[in-house]
Amino acid sequence: MNITLHFELNNIDWPKIAEIFEKAPLGTREPEKLSRAAANSALVCFAKDRDRFIGFARAISDGEYQAAIYDLCILPEYQSHGLGKKIMTAMKERLGPVSIILFAVPGKEGFYKKLGFAPMLTAMGSFQDEDGMVERGYLER
Ligand SMILES: CC(C)(COP(=O)(O)OP(=O)(O)OC[C@H]1O[C@@H](n2cnc3c(N)ncnc32)[C@H](O)[C@@H]1OP(=O)(O)O)[C@@H](O)C(=O)NCCC(=O)NCCS
Repeated sequence: MNITLHFELNNIDWPKIAEIFEKAPLGTREPEKLSRAAANSALVCFAKDRDRFIGFARAISDGEYQAAIYDLCILPEYQSHGLGKKIMTAMKERLGPVSIILFAVPGKEGFYKKLGFAPMLTAMGSFQDEDGMVERGYLER
């Protein structure tokens, strides 16, 4: 294994990144839509093992006060070896001294707690796929 992190949007194989979401699993993404979302994000992070894309995350940020991290996902065979922590630590460092929010996949809260995140008591959301969010355990009505 020769794992490296990359923060530029050059030469990205978006179907392969969408495949990471599928396999992680973190849902289904259309490669084209995902590439546009990444281009509009303040920060992207790609993990590679030599030439192979194995992990991804992105963040939106105003650069001064607030940021949000989304879409952290790693291929199953590379999970539980510290890569998630490595990506999150690099993202936090690059986002700088801003507040960061995210929502954990149900069951992954402990991973984020270890990285210094705490549950929010008054978080509210208005979602495109509200029924899906309720179904997947993110939202109560
Ligand atoms: C969640 C995910 C990104 C974590 O990455 P990872 O590389 O497997 O995690 P790491 O090996 O870096 O774990 C770091 C620490 O968190 C702990 N941890 C990992 N998952 C955990 C969980 N579900 N609950 C509690 N602790 C957890 C590890 O034991 C490790 O602890 P240590 O530092 O004391 O050894 C990865 O498993 C993944 O891609 N999962 C599928 C997609 C997903 O759910 N993404 C999260 C979106 S919110």
